[in-house]
Amino acid sequence: MPPEFREEPFVSQLRSNGRLTQNPGLTVLQPTAAFKTEEIKITSTIKIISKMDWEERYQTGDMPWEKGAASPGLVDFLAAHPELPRGTVCVPGCGTGHDARAWAEAGFEVHGFDIAPSAIRLSREKSQGVKNVQYQLADFLVDPPPMQFDWLFEHTLYCAIDPGQRADYAGAVLRWLKPGGQFLAVHYFIPDKDGPPFGTTRDEVVQRFSPNFRLIEDWVPRSYPNRTGLERMFWWVRT
Ligand SMILES: C[S@@+](CC[C@H](N)C(=O)[O-])C[C@H]1O[C@@H](n2cnc3c(N)ncnc32)[C@H](O)[C@@H]1O
Repeated sequence: MPPEFREEPFVSQLRSNGRLTQNPGLTVLQPTAAFKTEEIKITSTIKIISKMDWEERYQTGDMPWEKGAASPGLVDFLAAHPELPRGTVCVPGCGTGHDARAWAEAGFEVHGFDIAPSAIRLSREKSQGVKNVQYQLADFLVDPPPMQFDWLFEHTLYCAIDPGQRADYAGAVLRWLKPGGQFLAVHYFIPDKDGPPFGTTRDEVVQRFSPNFRLIEDWVPRSYPNRTGLERMFWWVRT
């Protein structure tokens, strides 16, 4: 189990109708033996990591994903493609804004979003003097987008949410991206099912996004040292 993103123990709650549900504020969903009965018939569980959980990680400085620099794969992509028309970019789960700043410094108009207020505060502080970048508090999975974007950049949000929310994530990409917009993603190929981070595979990613996107290219990027060989980038266009 990689040390990245380890969570505090989760709290479970059972609603009176016998379904597992979210505990507003804290959250969780984990089956116990008591739930594994024929009457309840739980087929899947979702461990939703709430806004408060993420905020606490920032407030306590428990942020092993924070590398102090943009994704190396993104840095190389932007350097390799000076020809791309400059447009608007959505960076959901922007953390402290390293990737958003990399896009902005390459000439794009960037909007970073995060569910944790401290992430937004840190992003703004670190972006003073950087043009064309702004940050806003938002839950990417459920909130309506303030606009539709030309680009959407994924980096360690897909692996931060519970795999049971991945259909919601794919739906959110469609809501936040313009038709014909481009979706650039750095995915984390780790075996972990007990995250976050939750790993994925090329097959899962291709199956998930192919119905609404055409894959332009995918490749193994340069990575932070502790992720070398564990990442794969995907460049999609929304069909
Ligand atoms: C593992 S961190 C990665 C941060 C940043 N992308 C990076 O690589 O440094 C995941 C981030 O996603 C944010 N996040 C989690 N769920 C979210 C959601 N539903 N909407 C927006 N942001 C979310 C967290 O607050 C956290 O900042």
